[in-house]
This record gives sequence, C-alpha cells and structure tokens, in this order.
Amino acid sequence: MSTTHPSADGEHTHTSIEDDVVDPAHIDNLSHETRRFAPSPTFADAAFAKADMYEDAESDRLNFWSRQAERLSWTKRWDDILDWSNPPVARWFTGGELNVAVNCLDRHIDNGLGDRVAIFFEGEPGDTRSITYTQLHAEVCQAANALEALGITAEDRVAIYLPMIPEAVVAMLACARIGAVHSVVFGGFSADALASRINDAGAKLVITADGGFRRGKELPLKPIIDEAVQSTPSVENVLVVKRTGGEVSFNDIDIWWHEALAEQPAAHQAQSFDSEHPLFILYTSGTTGKPKGIFHTTGGYLTQAAFTHAAVFDLKAETDVYWCTADVGWITGHSYVVYGPLANGATQLMYEGTPDTPHKGRWWELIEKYGVTIFYTAPTALRTFMKWGDEIVAAHDLSSLRLLGSVGEPINPEAWMWYREVIGGNKAPIVDTWWQTETGAIMISPLPGVTATKPGSAMRALPGIAVDVVDASGDTTPNGTGGYLVLTKPWPSMARGIWGDPHRFVDTYWQRYEKQGYYFAGDGANRDLDGDIWLLGRVDDVMNVSGHRISTAEVESALVSHPRVAEAAVVGAHDDITGQGIVAFVILRGQSKEDSTTIGEELRKHVVHEIGGIAKPRHIMIVEELPKTRSGKIMRRLLLDVAEHRALGDVTTLADPTVVQLIADGMTNNDED
Ligand code: PRX
Repeated sequence: MSTTHPSADGEHTHTSIEDDVVDPAHIDNLSHETRRFAPSPTFADAAFAKADMYEDAESDRLNFWSRQAERLSWTKRWDDILDWSNPPVARWFTGGELNVAVNCLDRHIDNGLGDRVAIFFEGEPGDTRSITYTQLHAEVCQAANALEALGITAEDRVAIYLPMIPEAVVAMLACARIGAVHSVVFGGFSADALASRINDAGAKLVITADGGFRRGKELPLKPIIDEAVQSTPSVENVLVVKRTGGEVSFNDIDIWWHEALAEQPAAHQAQSFDSEHPLFILYTSGTTGKPKGIFHTTGGYLTQAAFTHAAVFDLKAETDVYWCTADVGWITGHSYVVYGPLANGATQLMYEGTPDTPHKGRWWELIEKYGVTIFYTAPTALRTFMKWGDEIVAAHDLSSLRLLGSVGEPINPEAWMWYREVIGGNKAPIVDTWWQTETGAIMISPLPGVTATKPGSAMRALPGIAVDVVDASGDTTPNGTGGYLVLTKPWPSMARGIWGDPHRFVDTYWQRYEKQGYYFAGDGANRDLDGDIWLLGRVDDVMNVSGHRISTAEVESALVSHPRVAEAAVVGAHDDITGQGIVAFVILRGQSKEDSTTIGEELRKHVVHEIGGIAKPRHIMIVEELPKTRSGKIMRRLLLDVAEHRALGDVTTLADPTVVQLIADGMTNNDED
C-alpha cells in the first residue's frame, strides 16, 4: 500500500514488509568468486583472535561470552550470564554492576596508561588536539558534574546534536558516567526530525554546538536547535559547545558548555549501574514513517563492543592508531568510535569534516600524518575515491595501514579489490563487517588473522554469534542458495527494545519467525557452496543511501505532508556510488499544470526540511497515476524497474497495465541523472 495523504488524526497507511518481500527463489545466486586472500603468516601468528576461538565459543557459548565480559571491570560480578526467560528481551550478566565511563577511562589511568593519547582530533580547518586518557577523563568528569548540577540523573534522557568533535565523545561518556541515557541525533537531521526524536525520548537536556565546519564553511547547528526546542516541552536546558565562534542567539534555557564545565572539578565519583541499565537510545528508520528508538543497555553492549573491536580489528592498543570514519550520530560511531575503542584503551583519530576538503586527498593525508594502522570506512566512500582516481591516493604514503574494515552496505568485489590493492598495498586484510543498529556490535565478519577472505563476502558469524539463512518458513536454505538472514540465538549487545514501544519491537523483528525464536534482520543473503555469507541488502522497504538507512515510508510521509502532494511512492534505485538513490513518484493535488522541474525542486527542499539532507530524493517524477494492483497496493517492484530503466516486469496483476508504461515513458523523457 502506498502512503497517502495523512488523515485528520495524522495516521498514515504504510507499506508492510509483506507487500514487497523478495522471494528467496529470486535472490540471484551465486557469485562465482574464486579469489581467496589469506592473512600473511606473520599477521596470523600475532593475531588477537586465532582459529580455536570458533571451537571455543561453539563448545560453550555462554561461557565464551562470560570470559569476554571479564575483560571489563565490574564492581559486582554477575549472577547469571544470560536470562532469556522473557524473550525477545534478553538480560545479560544479570545482577552485575559496572560503570561504562570508568571502563573507558579510569581503569586505563589506574593501569598506568593515562598519558596515552585517546583521541587525535583534526578539525576540518586544520586545527588539532591530542587528548590523553587523563585529559579525556578530566573533561568527562567536569561534564558529568555539570550535568548533575543541571539536575540530570540516571532517570533522564539527554539528546546530543553535535558535529564530529571531541565534545561529542565527552558528552556521551558524561551521560554514561551518571547513568543518564543519551540519544545522539546525527547533525544532518532537520529541526523537525530532531524535535520528534527529542519528544519521543522525553529528553530533559540537549547538548549541541554553535556549529561545525563542513566543506570549508561553518555549518550552523544552533538555529536548528532553537527551532526544534519550540516544540519540545521536556527540554529544560541546552548546553552549547563553542566550536565555530559564529553568531548565535542565546535564550533563557541556553548555557555555554565551556562555562558550565569551568565551574566544575575535574574529578567525579562514579557510581556503578546494573548491567541492564539503559545506556543509549539511537533512532533508526524502519518500514514505517516513524523512526524507532532502538535502545541498548550497559554490560552486554560494552562486552560485545569491546570484544569485537579487539578481535575484528586485531587491536594492538600500545601501537595501533585506529581510525573509524563514521559519525557519532550512527551506531558505528557509538560502538567503534566511542565505546569499543575507548574500552580497549585504543588511540584513535577523529576527523571533523568531509573527505574532499580542502582537497580530495584529505583522508590519505591524515592517514600518512598520524600513521593510521587500522582504517574502518564505508563502501560508498571507497567508490567515490575510485571515481576520483588512484593518483590522489598514490600521492600519499599509506604503508602504515595493516588492517582495513568495511561497513554499512554490501561491498562490491570491485570496490573490495580496489580497497585491497590501492589502499592496503595488497597486504592489509580486509574485514567486511555486517551488523545493525539493533545488533549493537559486529555479528558477521572475517577474523583477520584466520579467515581466507573472498572479495565481497562478510564470510561467517563471529565466535559466539549464531546466524542462519532461511526461507520464508524458517527452514535453513541449502548452501548455494539464498534467503533471509536471521540471528538464531541471543547475543550480548542485542537491542533490548524500541523505546516506548515494546510491541513494535516484537512485530518488527521477532514475529516473522516466532515459532523458531529467530531475530529477522531484514536483509537478504546468499550462502555459497563453502557456507560463506554474501549480504544482498534489505528485503523490506528500507533504503540504504551512502550507508544510511532511510525508510521509503518516511520519505513518503514527508512528501505527502506538502500541501500539493496527493500521493507518493518512493523506491531506492541502484546507484553506482551511493548504493541506492531515492526516487520518488508523486501525484499532485489539483489540476493546475505546472513545470515539473520547479515543483520537483520544491518537493526536494521540503523533504530536506522535514527529514534532513540525507533523505533528499535524487529524482522526483510527477505522475498522473501510480501502478496499483486490483486490491489497491502500489507495485513498487515495477516502479523500481522504471527507476532503474529496466524492462518492465510482470504487469498482469495491475489494475491498469498502461499506467506503468506511461510512467516509464515519462521517466525516460525526463531523466535528470
Ligand atoms: O542492510 C544492512 C546494511 O546496513 C543495515 C543496518 O544499518 P544501520 O542500522 O544503519 O547500521 C549500519 C552500520 C552497522 C543492515 O541491515 N549493512 C550493514 N553492514 C553491512 C550491510 N550490508 C552488507 N554488508 C555489510 N557489511
């Protein structure tokens, strides 16, 4: 069903997974990839994770996780490793108590590592900071004290809307330290999107900045907050980090971050929290117009984030310089910029800006400058660099790199090989890591010192993780075929729910394979004849644009909230660089004929205003009608054919088979791309 104009009560009708599910029989198998890349014997010998880790975990999964939890520092040991008596809400390390910030900071200092650099920060304009664990601890303590002085307690939620600057890490850890739940909202979201997330979580405080630097310009954030807090009654104060020094308007509830921190001591007595105390909420798109507040708790999350960061990236904390290019506004930034690396005492690079500012070699220049050894990024970035040309990379010495990671979307074999040859100098193992906001940490990935990798495959489940590829009835599909990816056993960093909506948590992930008790990931996958896994992308109405999850329904809701739009249907069409691009088919209200370019541009702006720049449609097609089945369902499959310029699929179930041909003709005549 398409999204129609909201009714008086604001309800939308939305596409359900069932409407468009990919028939596993149609999931095209198999990649005939025969190349294999085993780690060098030197790498393998020195690796953190050895082959026996698989058997070890297999023979006693819970004790395996218990040993990983022992890598953290607990003030009270757990009674039980896992309580799965109330599925699908797991409780890990029950009765255990710890403080996440103490694990990320204090214990390293206690171990004599206070002078180790935690963060090398590079601002886009070229300003730099080196922050040791001792310094980071001092700032986090001041911030924790400042939050407490503002009345924030372990019962509260704090929204964080910041650029990629160290204060984002400080703010998150300060919340964790006092047990307040943070909800980081990516800086690219609009005021409306931000306000709805603040309201859903009932955040009492917002931490933001005057702005950040992006593409050589100041990108103001404060005006966006000012607009958002007009409609967020729960917000009592806004803490504002001074980053750009640009003009900002200050209201009664606003306080400068640096002033609030300056008043506070750089020491803070941290209290421990229950292993299942909520740590954060992170909103992600699902198959409806309303983003889901995925929430994670403390002990299990930190255990798996820290373990996977050590095992998948083969971290040698004393010598490695690690760089994950993700923004803290996404789960990758949470688990692999903040919690995993800091729990492991890593030294990492944090960069504020875009890869092409002031020139297209900025990332490679940074790798050379800081001697980065472990690099973790997204395929969409790699494909962009491939397009820009190898000579940009060749101008820099990247020989320090010893491990490369990929995340966020399927990596095509060409990009994988380019990554290996051009970036990794044919020596650094590549780990293609599959996971989700909901899984909290990496689930499927090679172990770099063990696995002979195949270009484009995430290979197999990590030790301690149980996955399967199944058909619609939940039966395992044979090797050499495809199906739906499921997680068959609970894992420590699994989401504990959707904030304020337990039913949706069950409906979205658990109902489909209720009988088997499997978690339905929403991704299609092939298992090849060796049993290795190849991810195929989403099988629901969630698009993946540059590694960002955006739901078709969310964009449709934004479009129909424009007074001129009667009906909208959105599809994610293949895009060589971004993976998918957003293509919208829109029926306008009223008769007035107008220039489709003008209204198209207006609607694109409207979507940016409603959701943010990341959801801007690549192409808007004004149509007279949408292809529907006789029962009134939009046939997105056909719209996708149109958007991808393919021969039209089966139209026999269409109410009016001529409609889609008319749209296809219009698309060809009108193509902007
Ligand atoms: O479709 C899968 C894709 O990204 C989705 C999860 O998105 P998000 O929660 O935003 O988290 C992204 C970062 C972990 C998945 O359902 N995805 C993520 N990693 C991969 C991937 N698809 C293929 N290969 C991957 N390595």
